[in-house]
Amino acid sequence: MSERKNPRVMLSAETLQRRVQELGEQITQDYRQTEHLIVVPILKGSFLFAADLIRHIDLDLSVEFLGLRSYGAGTESSGVVQITYDLTRTITDKDVLVVEDIVDTGLSMRYLFENLATRHPRTVRLCSLLHKPARSRAKTNIDYLGFTIDDHFVVGYGLDYDERYRNLPYIGVIE
Ligand code: IMP
Ligand code: MG
Repeated sequence: MSERKNPRVMLSAETLQRRVQELGEQITQDYRQTEHLIVVPILKGSFLFAADLIRHIDLDLSVEFLGLRSYGAGTESSGVVQITYDLTRTITDKDVLVVEDIVDTGLSMRYLFENLATRHPRTVRLCSLLHKPARSRAKTNIDYLGFTIDDHFVVGYGLDYDERYRNLPYIGVIE
């Protein structure tokens, strides 16, 4: 095994869990009149966040994954967004909640929301664990936000650097 240095803790597992519970409760409250909610976790980055979040959403819901790729192997946004895995069901006339790991430039969410609009959902909102406003290139309306962070490249709790570190239970910064 090679030497591995753990990233510095930015948001601890406890801090994340507390906020995720609050978000789940808020979503439960806001959608209490809604017949059925379709939760759309964006792969791969939001898989841990979404798994924890839905356990705090006390509603009739289903989960439909959607895969997006906006980054190469490095840490810079290419601005080019690709759907790597699409929804398996129609969202026409449905209430959709997109669950994302982090909004950085905002280009991925701009592309996705334009794409989803063509499928005519009844409503579509965004829940993002993190927002890094320093690098914004497209205005993004985040309906449910976990934390605003400074301009660091973060990993863990689903987020990767070159596909690594997704398994960390906290959000950390590589030094
Ligand atoms: P955007 O299109 O620039 O907003 O980038 C969104 C996507 O880039 C996110 O869903 C992440 O997958 C990835 N990303 C952006 N910033 C980070 C980071 O600090 N760590 C890990 N992934 C990131
Ligand atoms: Mg992502």
